[in-house]
Amino acid sequence: MRVLVGYATAKGATRGIAERIATGLEQAGHTVDSRELSAVTSVGAYDVLVLGSAIHNGQWLPDAADALERLGPDLRGRAVWAYSVSSVGASSSLLSPRVARYLRRVTPEPKAVQALRASAADVRGHRFFAGTIAPGDWPGVGRIVFRLMGGHYGDARDWADIDEWVATVRAESDDDVR
Ligand SMILES: Cc1cc2nc3c(=O)[nH]c(=O)nc-3n(C[C@H](O)[C@H](O)[C@H](O)COP(=O)(O)O)c2cc1C
Repeated sequence: MRVLVGYATAKGATRGIAERIATGLEQAGHTVDSRELSAVTSVGAYDVLVLGSAIHNGQWLPDAADALERLGPDLRGRAVWAYSVSSVGASSSLLSPRVARYLRRVTPEPKAVQALRASAADVRGHRFFAGTIAPGDWPGVGRIVFRLMGGHYGDARDWADIDEWVATVRAESDDDVR
């Protein structure tokens, strides 16, 4: 299968996850292109799309949301897997465990993912992964809120969880081929 791993990143954590996903799918024998979503003008050549974005202020980055709008009609019927990279992932977090548990319960999917689900694309799944945060990444007030939420700087990407998710993408894509 031909797979596009498209992503939008501000500081690079999402690019690292996209590279891991691309490698996992290549190892399964798929032909994979990995691209920043701002550079994607057509997806007609791909059987499967794995699309992800960093989260700022609860939403996908404008580059990612704009790409979905631009590609709109092209997405019809295409298998799409989505992921979001934020402070709190499904299995790890940059915030305190208590805050993370709460946020997992109440945080809605980003609007871009909701729009994708409401579109004619064949959305197979969406997962939150935790990313990275360095001192200085947050603007002033954000830094204080981050601290109040028990935030710690560093890399909270859970590679085992990411690999497991890729295994799910692989398994479903293999089923499609059969
Ligand atoms: C300006 C800014 C806004 C952010 N807003 C959110 C947010 O609303 N929710 C959240 O969970 N994380 C938020 N984060 C944390 C990022 O999602 C996290 O750092 C992620 O790893 C960014 O991915 P990237 O390195 O690919 O840009 C924000 C980070 C920055 C710098």
